[in-house]
Amino acid sequence: HRPVLVLPRRLYPTAARRLPQAIIMGVRKCGTRALLEMLYLHPMVQKASGEVHFFDRDENYNKGLEWYRMQMPHSYPGQITIEKSPSYFVTPEVPERIRAMNSSIKLLLIVREPVTRAISDYTQLRANAVAASPSGPPLAAPVAAAQPPKSFEQLAVFPNGTINEAYRPLAISVYHNYLHRWLEAFPREQILIVNGDLLIEDPVSQVQKIETFLGLEPRIGTHNFYFNETKGFYCLRNETSDRCLRETKGRKHPRVDANVISKLRRYFGEHNQKFYELIGEEMGWPE
Ligand code: A3P
Repeated sequence: HRPVLVLPRRLYPTAARRLPQAIIMGVRKCGTRALLEMLYLHPMVQKASGEVHFFDRDENYNKGLEWYRMQMPHSYPGQITIEKSPSYFVTPEVPERIRAMNSSIKLLLIVREPVTRAISDYTQLRANAVAASPSGPPLAAPVAAAQPPKSFEQLAVFPNGTINEAYRPLAISVYHNYLHRWLEAFPREQILIVNGDLLIEDPVSQVQKIETFLGLEPRIGTHNFYFNETKGFYCLRNETSDRCLRETKGRKHPRVDANVISKLRRYFGEHNQKFYELIGEEMGWPE
């Protein structure tokens, strides 16, 4: 993308690896990758390439901050380095660990309507399970051996009709259960809530909000996006290329029984209210 940054340091003596000044802390399946790639359209943003998982995995955290810094890309003074590791959001130790590194860091929390997020999570887990199964994807499997995967409905609701609250894709969507710990470590103003459903529909509006939050000059606009009918999502454009996110982003979701959706929306209603109270904003999710 930006080859200039890998030129020898003697040519660009101020380029260095710097600890991030902003972190996308989650939530998984809410558009964390899209958000990072969209922010990277800004010339003053640098991003860590993979998910670094420094604060949530002890084996990484124990390597220390210098190891973390070495995972970061080169940047110029004034540029903002951002990394995203969605599991930070749900890991209890993380807020305090981040605060210990930098108590004035800026945090981005991207959320989606909780039932949609849960279905997206289910879709990903199912896709990963198929890919990891010893017989490979279904086409390669002997016809009789393959167990049909459980449906979202079977996993989310017990046969007696009660909701399986411990089912991970549902539990992660109860955002207030995790967010309260972050608010014990950071003042509310340091966390920007990004609406992941709006990021899909109207990325420019969300990205511009973030430019302001990060103190960046407004640079990203409609010229950076085009809608790709085949993908069904906005794709990204800069001076040199047009590109869409990979096919693992924007998967087709299975059709879920409307009664199960309604039941889950009612269940999340109360949790969503608690989340709105914590953030002091309404997201307007259906109940
Ligand atoms: P689905 O695959 O369920 O549609 P994450 O990167 O946190 O795993 O989030 C993945 C989600 O990002 C996708 O979930 C998709 O809806 C969303 N997304 C938002 N903007 C997108 C874009 N421009 N292209 C592809 N996916 C996008």
